[in-house]
Amino acid sequence: MSQVRFIVQPGGNLRGRIRVPGDKSISHRSIMLGAIAEGTTEVEGFLEGADSLATLQAFRDMGVHIEGPDNGHVVIHGVGLRGLKAPDKPLDMGNSGTAMRLMAGILAGQAFEATLIGDASLSRRPMKRVTDPLGLMGAHIDTAPGGTPPLHVHPVGDRLKGIDYTLPMASAQVKSAILLAGLYAEGRTCVTEPAPTRDHTERMLRGFGYPVHTEKLDSQRTRICLSGGGTLRATHIDVPSDISSAAFFMVGAAIAPDSDLLIEHVGVNPTRTGVIDILRLMGADITLENEREVGGEPVADIRVRSSRLHGIDIPPELVPLAIDEFPVLFVAAAVAEGTTVLRGAEELRVKESDRIQVMADALHTLGVDAEPTPDGMIIRGGRPFQPQQGVIDSHHDHRISMASAITALRAPSPVVIDDCANVATSFPTFVELANGAGMQIEVAHA
Ligand code: S3P
Repeated sequence: MSQVRFIVQPGGNLRGRIRVPGDKSISHRSIMLGAIAEGTTEVEGFLEGADSLATLQAFRDMGVHIEGPDNGHVVIHGVGLRGLKAPDKPLDMGNSGTAMRLMAGILAGQAFEATLIGDASLSRRPMKRVTDPLGLMGAHIDTAPGGTPPLHVHPVGDRLKGIDYTLPMASAQVKSAILLAGLYAEGRTCVTEPAPTRDHTERMLRGFGYPVHTEKLDSQRTRICLSGGGTLRATHIDVPSDISSAAFFMVGAAIAPDSDLLIEHVGVNPTRTGVIDILRLMGADITLENEREVGGEPVADIRVRSSRLHGIDIPPELVPLAIDEFPVLFVAAAVAEGTTVLRGAEELRVKESDRIQVMADALHTLGVDAEPTPDGMIIRGGRPFQPQQGVIDSHHDHRISMASAITALRAPSPVVIDDCANVATSFPTFVELANGAGMQIEVAHA
């Protein structure tokens, strides 16, 4: 990939209607479950971003015939739970932690060996959080020293065994990896999550006719169980727009004067809407219109108008429900009057980049008082952004690039961001949509 720099002109507002691409989490899962189902699954609204395309390619490498994507339309000729074939080369998951961790769950139960590799950022991310519980199920997966990729998955001699596992952290990826391995296990597999996390795997499994039992243990903890050895039946999947991509425009329209933006057909699954709750607590004017259910997932059009934001203490229970949105929420906090405090978000340090440090550094280039802490950030906001000192380094992290671009709506001079090629992992049309709605982002290739 060539070096990509964004040069974003200051000011502007966001108006009109836009539709952001399909949900990344749901797109990954549509390919995975479609591939191991019996019959032909059709997907609409599939995200044609590098991350979900890596998942699609991995299943082609395991012998699954997949047509498309063509304008978000994908046809997957499922091979059934036992129909995957040994790949003849390592499966390259690119930048995607979701792809690698969920694939580890599926591969754990196969009768062939496989290796999962990734790019430089993914190769630094922790994998023991999945290989440890999968090991308890009888899987045999080697990591590099330090518990990072590549993952070398050895074939299981016998079937995996179901486990009853309590997650040490609120992670949908770990939960999903264990449930997917549970499809290949003898007996019941149960996962208890310490706080609600995105439940797309559970919903989609049910959409494929696979029974999943969910029990709320208290206001935070849920236990999710399934039994191995069943069958997934092909289905039709409509992927809603990704709320994590919409979030850049939600914050942009909230902080830019004279904005009024309608973001259409966004997935508003309650395990994903923390960004709406947090922005509303900060005083944002956000309304959900035309709420409906599409293929087992709630969807709405989200209308955002400019508003005066104020700082808040972010409620800890909202952290897992907004985990991918903090880069851009930090931008909202930098504009908001008063202090915003985020705690309990140490997971941000092991995302595509260390999103606490990298966003603090980005905001410092604009003179923002942003103090990183081990598990969050304290931002004393409300002072006008200063002319940028230096350039923002996005550290190969799509969400840092896009969040940083949004700062320009309130900056006094152009904002320059380096290493932006990875925007293509989740939101290949970001620049086009942002410019269409009222921003001026120039893309320079070095
Ligand atoms: C995801 C889960 C989250 C999220 C990631 C997508 C998923 O990761 O950050 O972008 O699709 O399951 P964790 O499970 O590590 O919190």
